[in-house]
Amino acid sequence: MTTAYVNGIFTPLSEARISPMDRGFLFGDGVYEVIPCYGGQPVAMQYHLERLHDSLEGIALSPSHSDEQLNALIDELIRQNGGGDLGIYLQITRGVVERRQHAFPEKCEPTVFAYTFSISPPSDGTIESATCFSTVTRPDQRWGRCHIKSTALLGNVLHMMEAIEENAEEVLLFNDHNQLTEAAACNVFVVSDDKILTPELDHQKLPGVTRRQCLELLAAHTDWVVEIRPVSLEEVLNAREIWLSSSTKELSPVVRVNGQPVNDGKPGPRWSAAQQLFHQHRFSRP
Ligand SMILES: Cc1ncc(COP(=O)(O)O)c(C=O)c1O
Repeated sequence: MTTAYVNGIFTPLSEARISPMDRGFLFGDGVYEVIPCYGGQPVAMQYHLERLHDSLEGIALSPSHSDEQLNALIDELIRQNGGGDLGIYLQITRGVVERRQHAFPEKCEPTVFAYTFSISPPSDGTIESATCFSTVTRPDQRWGRCHIKSTALLGNVLHMMEAIEENAEEVLLFNDHNQLTEAAACNVFVVSDDKILTPELDHQKLPGVTRRQCLELLAAHTDWVVEIRPVSLEEVLNAREIWLSSSTKELSPVVRVNGQPVNDGKPGPRWSAAQQLFHQHRFSRP
């Protein structure tokens, strides 16, 4: 049985209730985080809290819980769900209103909801332990505020379905200049020649915690050339390797794009080395 948290109360997930007049339900007026936890220990909690604050600020919602309270509720949720390997979903919405109107209500108590789900242990960087991804490419048709980790994810959901319709598991998105933005639920790294490329952050990309950790780990433990700059469709289609990054996938190799193999269609040596670094150092960051 999964235990959830709703506004101060721990309850079986099947009994958790939120009003249909919650602005999260009516407008997607909320933000969220997904924090991975292995052996009961959260990964990069501080980075997730920092981004949560940025997202709350991005939708002009004052936090109802301090970081101390959020840390305590997450620790308790992990404990009540038996520890182990868990994804922690934490959502904060503007709360329940009496009347549906677009403008923010004058007074509203934010809704705080969290629950856990089981996740597989991440790869140790060996080829055998890799979860490989097939992808398709599409023009990015989401909204212009993708830097906010908003619960309004319909654009991402519809893009993900474009991948699934083509028997792929992710979609690589490109802006009007045919430059890579990100994937429906991941950031993207490309190995081109001998360089590691990843697009710079802007309003078309979520500032991924895993992307941040990966860049820090590569800077601290390798002498690889890493370039944060626009990445063209051509560079993606001719890449030696492509990696997806997200909290529950860490770094995962892309082995197909639009039905064509990436290089030899197998996880590459740079991915393997980078994910091994992640495996060794996942708890060494805040
Ligand atoms: C659109 C999008 N980009 C990037 C990411 C990766 O972010 P993180 O590494 O913080 O999980 C996610 C994760 O859910 C996402 O939904």
